[in-house]
Amino acid sequence: MSDKHKKVTTTDAGIPASSDELSLTVGPNGPILLQDHYLIQKMAQFNRERVPERVVHAKGGGAHGYFEVTADVTPFTKAKFLSSVGKRTPVFLRFSTVAGELGSPDTNRDPRGFAIKFYTEDGNYDLVGNNTPIFFVRDPQKFQDFIHSQKRHPVTNRRDHNMQWDFWTLSPESAHQVSFLFTDRGTPKTWRHMNGYGSHTFMWVNADGEKFWVKYHFKTNQGIENFTDAEAKAMAAEDPDYHLRDLYEAIENGHYPSWTLEMQIMPLAEAADYRFNPFDLTKVWPHGDYPPITVGRLVLNRNPENYFAEVEQAAFEPANMVPGIGPSPDKMLLGRLFSYPDTHRYRIGTNYLQLPINQPQVPVHSYNKDGSMRYRHNGDQPVYAPNSFGGPHADPNRQDPSWFVAGEIVRSAYTLHSEDDDFGQPRTLWTKVLSETDKQHMVNNLVAHLKAGVRPDIIDRVLEYWGKVHPGISAGIAEGLGVTAVV
Ligand code: HEM
Repeated sequence: MSDKHKKVTTTDAGIPASSDELSLTVGPNGPILLQDHYLIQKMAQFNRERVPERVVHAKGGGAHGYFEVTADVTPFTKAKFLSSVGKRTPVFLRFSTVAGELGSPDTNRDPRGFAIKFYTEDGNYDLVGNNTPIFFVRDPQKFQDFIHSQKRHPVTNRRDHNMQWDFWTLSPESAHQVSFLFTDRGTPKTWRHMNGYGSHTFMWVNADGEKFWVKYHFKTNQGIENFTDAEAKAMAAEDPDYHLRDLYEAIENGHYPSWTLEMQIMPLAEAADYRFNPFDLTKVWPHGDYPPITVGRLVLNRNPENYFAEVEQAAFEPANMVPGIGPSPDKMLLGRLFSYPDTHRYRIGTNYLQLPINQPQVPVHSYNKDGSMRYRHNGDQPVYAPNSFGGPHADPNRQDPSWFVAGEIVRSAYTLHSEDDDFGQPRTLWTKVLSETDKQHMVNNLVAHLKAGVRPDIIDRVLEYWGKVHPGISAGIAEGLGVTAVV
């Protein structure tokens, strides 16, 4: 490149800088002068390079791509981005681990986040799910305590298996998700080789106002592949960023990962008498009850150009639902509707929705204004409604997704449906889904985890907990630990 075309370094105000390497001093031996504005700007900006990491799901990676509709779902939803076969909508997807910090190994045993932002013509639709169809708790009141039990101990500042098993065994509703976590699905080989789930039950509404309860399943087209516990631990030492590297390189090399979206759809009226509470996040709907139908495919085909701008500053929020899609009475989902925008305002800033990765690809006409770092505005649009100066009007004909509710205000667990209990579905996982090898690995994975500092009284509770899932599991654990099983 000729000198003529070389870029000249500037300050952030665009003023040409006179050196990249030398500070401005009085004579070659100093002192340094306060008027070296570029040096001071470099130091000050550097000190502010980090935003707080996400309080959970801190370590992750992401990519751009698209969602394509492959089947007619207009009988179930009027969502415009799902309105015709062949229609494509741009997406950004972020994968993550839950418990570790920004630098933690990708292959640690943990659920994986699977957060999708669809940039639709009706605004952004965020589906913020995991690689598991279920979760550890079913009331948002317990989420913070659950996460505290998985993070660092307040005294030792280390992750603490004793806290984890204390919480889990005192929270029997965790048994289904903990079972899943300790199979080899708790250590997926790569992000490309795992499924993604919306996990919660959501509502779909069609153009006639007919409503359905639905569940999202993104099935990997690369096939499910997992690491064994030993392989995952070896990879954590060899390449802590293995999943990040794998996704980036696959896309760079043109091996675009894809997932097939399958939906389970339940007519609204069937929820009341369904054998499981269909809104309980610790339960699945067995596929025999509601066979999944294929709806579309998700493809990732473009790496971010800048990790910080696109992945670190990406802000997903389950409350972003477009017309045709709504929440359900799942208490966890309702709690999450508040939590995410609140954390984004704290972590990224008031106007996080104006950042390119988060901004909708349609115009915004709200009456919100000002705040730190706002740069998009509506000019002389009136700043209040109602107004007589031509400001935007909300459309009263739009129906919010709704369901009928009546009852006294209480603090109570969900009403049980006929087959609801905490151990039945994980027992089915053990007896009907897992192979003999899967079972052996699950018991070995549990034993290895329990050997790392869990107190004897909590081990007793662990054996009781697993005995309720299946005596074969507690017997296997007892044998592995060299203790007597309590059944
Ligand atoms: C009451 C329950 C929950 C609360 C209060 C909660 C809260 C949070 C918070 C505060 C974050 C950090 C967000 C950020 O800083 O960008 C987060 C991230 C995340 N959560 Fe939850 N969470 C809950 C349950 C769940 C469940 C059930 C799932 C999956 C089904 C889930 C999936 C995720 C994912 C995938 C991320 C990372 C999003 C990203 O990639 O930026 N969370 N959660």
